[in-house]
Amino acid sequence: MCGIIGYIGKRQAYPILIKGLQRLEYRGYDSAGIALLDNDLLNVYKAKGKVSDLVRFAEQQDVNGTIGIAHTRWATHGEPNQINAHPHCSQSEELAIIHNGIIENYAVLKESLIKHGYTFQSQTDTEVLVQLIDYVKKSNNVDLTKAVQLALNQVVGAYAIAVIEKGNPDVIVAARKGSPLVVGIGDGEFFLASDATPIVEYTNKVVYIGDEEIVTLKRGEDIKIKTIADVVKTPEIQRLELTLSQLEKGGYPHFMLKEIFEQPKTLSDSMRGRLNLEEKEIKLSGFIDNKEKFLNAKRIIITACGTSWHAGLIGKYAIEEFCRIPVEVEYSSEFRYRKPVIHGDDLVIAISQSGETADTLAAVELAKSHGAFIFGICNVVGSSIPRNTNSGCYTHAGPEIGVASTKAFTAQVTVLTMLALLIGKEKGTLSVERYKEIVSELGNIPQKMRSLLDQNDMIAQFAKTFTYAQNFIYLGRGYNYPVALEGALKLKEISYIHAEGYPAAEMKHGPIALISQEMPVVVIAPSAGMYEKVVSNIQEIKARKGRIISIVTEGDTVVTNLSDYYISIPDTEECLVPLLAAIPLQLMAYHIAVVKGCNVDQPRNLAKSVTVE
Ligand code: M6R
Repeated sequence: MCGIIGYIGKRQAYPILIKGLQRLEYRGYDSAGIALLDNDLLNVYKAKGKVSDLVRFAEQQDVNGTIGIAHTRWATHGEPNQINAHPHCSQSEELAIIHNGIIENYAVLKESLIKHGYTFQSQTDTEVLVQLIDYVKKSNNVDLTKAVQLALNQVVGAYAIAVIEKGNPDVIVAARKGSPLVVGIGDGEFFLASDATPIVEYTNKVVYIGDEEIVTLKRGEDIKIKTIADVVKTPEIQRLELTLSQLEKGGYPHFMLKEIFEQPKTLSDSMRGRLNLEEKEIKLSGFIDNKEKFLNAKRIIITACGTSWHAGLIGKYAIEEFCRIPVEVEYSSEFRYRKPVIHGDDLVIAISQSGETADTLAAVELAKSHGAFIFGICNVVGSSIPRNTNSGCYTHAGPEIGVASTKAFTAQVTVLTMLALLIGKEKGTLSVERYKEIVSELGNIPQKMRSLLDQNDMIAQFAKTFTYAQNFIYLGRGYNYPVALEGALKLKEISYIHAEGYPAAEMKHGPIALISQEMPVVVIAPSAGMYEKVVSNIQEIKARKGRIISIVTEGDTVVTNLSDYYISIPDTEECLVPLLAAIPLQLMAYHIAVVKGCNVDQPRNLAKSVTVE
């Protein structure tokens, strides 16, 4: 995790770096720090807590300088406090570094540096790295770029780093392996950051730094890139497709609420150019280019984490129903280590909003090493996973800033549904008539979502009733079982209320023991798919005095009569219900968290992209 940013140019670095940290704060927010070079001075300021805590402290200090680096942290090594916050300096106080990632062999390196007389202030792996660069620089009498290169050759692990040097105010050296890094090229100035969000207001020319590449940003010179193996690379300048308004709250109190409300639009964006409603056809270039791989796949493995894993589970239901191809849905963190059986003719779908999740990236590498074909479904354009897959499809949900994933989830489900429909039609396992019916209905979903969002005030009202709860149970069957899992995850991550999702029929095998009049049970009970079965499950809960909150299809009378509260969703195809049912669950979690006074956009202990194991 962690967000890193750097600036070198003609302007004062401090305001640019602080604004950038605020944009990157979703990546980690337990401490923050900044290092500025002002002629011969190297000023480093750090604070435990948020970027606002750093600002309160730093604005009392000397914040001059046209070159600097800054960091917002999500702790891995050492508790979140001021000492462990970045930047870290070498013992000589000549070098300052910021780092996102983990240096796995830091203990061995530290031991050897201690033998060379180095002492350490913090518990971090990052301080080891800056001391190593200092040692290498001095013992080989080389410049900063060379020292970084030689030091990184000794490092095992993942990193995006930026280093500055006292007395050398014209250079920032940065490098990456496994953690993202992008450089913005302005007029006589450079920006570097973990993602493009802090850069977009200054320039739309960016260079995505590749794995094991070192970049030197020097005043008055062009960007220079070489690999840690010393191969010179030609920078590939790309145009940034991102607007400033996408990064602002636009009048909403939280990014999460804004992103929930954006879903009708993000779904349309996901389908734009892909779903042809006149001809009732789907076109996915990632599919067309590799059609045979999809049609001949004996098995599909979906790998992902968290919310993306839930989307993958919905994808499994759709692919198995329409394409009759067996699908396994794997947590990337398990898949990468449990010696899975992967065949060369397997098709692996990696799903990730950020495109940077370390476990999913490693799962991709593993599957690739076994010769499988990898298809990525990612949101962040140019991120690591799409760069490491054979083919893929962006979700085009736009930047998702709230830590709790909402619009990215529905966009992932949309892409998976389009893919399943297309494979099914091409394979002949789905009739053309059914295909066209579902394609046509998919086109109606954004409008149906819009009408659903009108119930926001009502959901906000009844959410207040449930802030007392310590536990929640979410139930669904078929396509709605993953929606139950996702609803429970949303609630627990932002409101800190314990919540569990179950397949509704699984209740009687244990969890039913938890039911009492205190227990809110959210049941997704649309008319499409196993309705009567779910009604029986609701009766079982009602008989034990559980409090029922149901998601029903408009016009329902049976489940509504059994429910303490209900939210109606428009009728739709069974496979498309998750796209609608997810929304009231997102809104309910949001409002409960708000009433409880929780930090909705930046829940405790979490960060938006998990770039460490
Ligand atoms: O960026 P990714 O989709 O790979 O992230 C996966 C999970 O870390 C993410 O979905 C996480 O569970 C969210 N906090 C859920 O809201």
